[in-house]
Amino acid sequence: MTETNTWSNRFETALNPMIATFNASIPFDIILLPYDIQGSIAHAKMLAKTGIISEEEATQLVQGLQEILTEYENGEFHPDINEEDVHFAVEHRLTAKIGEVGKKLHTARSRNDQVGTDLRLYLQDKITHLRANLRHYQQALLNLAENHIDTLIPGYTHLQRAQPISLAHHLLAYWEMAQRDWERLGDVAKRTNISPLGCGALAGTTFPIDRDYTANELGFNDIYRNSLDAVSDRDFVIEFLNAASLIMVHLSRFSEEIIFWSSQEFNFVTLKDSCATGSSIMPQKKNPDVPELIRGKTGRICGHLQGMLMVMKGLPLAYNKDLQEDKEGLFDSVKTTESCLEAMTILLTEGLEFRKQRLEEAVAEDFSNATDVADYLANKGVPFREAYNLVGEVVKTSLAAGKLLKDLTLEEWQAIHPQFENDIYEAITPKQVVSARNSYGGTGFKEVRNAIEIAKTLTT
Ligand code: ARG
Repeated sequence: MTETNTWSNRFETALNPMIATFNASIPFDIILLPYDIQGSIAHAKMLAKTGIISEEEATQLVQGLQEILTEYENGEFHPDINEEDVHFAVEHRLTAKIGEVGKKLHTARSRNDQVGTDLRLYLQDKITHLRANLRHYQQALLNLAENHIDTLIPGYTHLQRAQPISLAHHLLAYWEMAQRDWERLGDVAKRTNISPLGCGALAGTTFPIDRDYTANELGFNDIYRNSLDAVSDRDFVIEFLNAASLIMVHLSRFSEEIIFWSSQEFNFVTLKDSCATGSSIMPQKKNPDVPELIRGKTGRICGHLQGMLMVMKGLPLAYNKDLQEDKEGLFDSVKTTESCLEAMTILLTEGLEFRKQRLEEAVAEDFSNATDVADYLANKGVPFREAYNLVGEVVKTSLAAGKLLKDLTLEEWQAIHPQFENDIYEAITPKQVVSARNSYGGTGFKEVRNAIEIAKTLTT
């Protein structure tokens, strides 16, 4: 910019350079350029359709805008900081290219409805990408689950071994979370997909515009009813950040498990070289950097959600410059959530090897079949609470004797309760313990197979 300022002749001196930089959003909002051009093209066509400008003028505007998009895509568009933001940068470039007619583009529009339009178009696009990323992640979970229906793993409550489960069942729990995430993003999209274009600075416009036309051109499903609300609403950003935070929280929980599964203490999983890193001084180490980074990045995304809630709190109607603060956290959340989903998908596809032998030992070396002993007696008519207390005693005496339940002799069993018979041994093998839990949603192999089929139909 060569003039003293960007706005109007009302200003006599140029901005202090530090303040110009402080005020500018161009370093980060430049990524909105394709959406800004898209919005401006729809606006220019609308201006011609309603007779506000001529067809010939609209054609020139549209052509100029398309050329700017090409310049941007070819890496030839480098606005400087004095342009302030992407909207001014495009408008100035347009006028430089096509002359005076370029100055007509901003008729019946403000940067306030413009930036709202751009941001919504951007987010729509990103939501579509993220939902595709979620589908890839779900597919990786499903593939792994299908290979591990018969692999048993200890199931925990309070991080204490509780009951053995099918590894597939465990993986499918994360599939379910991702399914809710996918649905939630679809829901956010519904309220992102509403056009504020034509609401002007805050109060609408004196020109005979056609808001439905621009909304249709841009693929919006609806238009805002109230112009004040339209230019200052960022609920859709907050809703998105909430959805992104939940995706991250889910990935982070899974990451935490992978981290301790890969520790020497658990030793349930081996990290393959393509997805693990080494230490600079301890040659024996293999570090789970990928899940650790996902767990770590989760804090940042949840922080962006809090940040945006705080931007909105106390914001009077309508547009305030505070709203420029909606962008960096949003852009970072989109990029980070996308990359975490991709990294986790790769980790699941090629980075993990479950140690079957170790898992088999793990489920056989504890008292996680105690509930099944109680169930065994309850099935023979002993009231469950009484059976539960009896088994509690057995666990206590076995622990003291350094024995597992499978090591008790039939005499010992029958001394506890005469209803015990030889089939108690089969009833408490880890495999049988898992297999028997065929209530809907349980870990029984039949149920898990069923769940995999349902998951398949829900994702295709
Ligand atoms: N760069 C601004 C933003 O991101 C665009 C809107 C500016 N509007 C204004 N009235 N200053 O919010």
